Amino acid sequence: MAKVEEAIWKTEGARKRLAVQHMFAEIAPTYDLLNSILSLSLHHRWRRFAVSTLKLNQGDRALDVCCGTGDFMVPLRQAVGKAGLVVGIDFCQPMLERAKTKGHDRLSRGDACNLPVASGQFQGVSVGWGIRNVPDIDAAHRELVRVLKPGGRFVSLDMALPTNKFIRRASEVVTNMVVPRIGALFGKTRAYTYLPKSTQSFSTREQLAASMQRAGLIDVRHKDLLLGNVCIHYAQKPGAPLA
Ligand SMILES: C[S@@+](CC[C@H](N)C(=O)[O-])C[C@H]1O[C@@H](n2cnc3c(N)ncnc32)[C@H](O)[C@@H]1O
Repeated sequence: MAKVEEAIWKTEGARKRLAVQHMFAEIAPTYDLLNSILSLSLHHRWRRFAVSTLKLNQGDRALDVCCGTGDFMVPLRQAVGKAGLVVGIDFCQPMLERAKTKGHDRLSRGDACNLPVASGQFQGVSVGWGIRNVPDIDAAHRELVRVLKPGGRFVSLDMALPTNKFIRRASEVVTNMVVPRIGALFGKTRAYTYLPKSTQSFSTREQLAASMQRAGLIDVRHKDLLLGNVCIHYAQKPGAPLA
């Protein structure tokens, strides 16, 4: 088992998987509150924008991978309506328990690199702040392409490093100094040290786009938010555009 003291952002493979799982179990009770504080509540707007790139219709089926406490499932539900289906998958039971309290009922425990769903099921698949945490990003992208219908769309929203060097330096100061301190106020220093560290060692925009293309996605695009500190990648699975 990965030691809890270990620097999670330096782990890989099965050790990273276990360390990340432990970390999210630990922060599940305060995750939503800290998310709102650290993003100044902008995360709701970013999620709505990300979901709009999926171009979902009422009655469609959508999957949220790494669903956590279920906040991405809210705009997904609005997009597909009561006639549609929204499924959330996460490998951390305490995060799923929080999602359950928000009324989401189609929740399953599972790994992003080995999704417990049949192929070709969904018109849209989303991942919010999840890809950065998986040990094998290529495998996760292949899995989500597998479960998309031909012509279906994928979106991933995650932290990023600003491309402008002055903004990047200012962001580094804020994220390295302020974020862990806010985490410390809630007794979660380790997890909120992981946030900036994992962002700094995360794939670049171009590497993420290349991984999505290797997995078979086409028309891969990205859009920066919050001066490039957050980035949305979106793409399509080849096939006739869905009506
Ligand atoms: C930063 S939280 C994001 C939660 C949610 N998507 C949101 O937008 O707030 C990352 C989530 O990804 C989950 N996760 C990380 N790696 C995973 C994996 N390999 N398989 C499934 N879930 C994973 C964690 O348990 C956690 O709930």
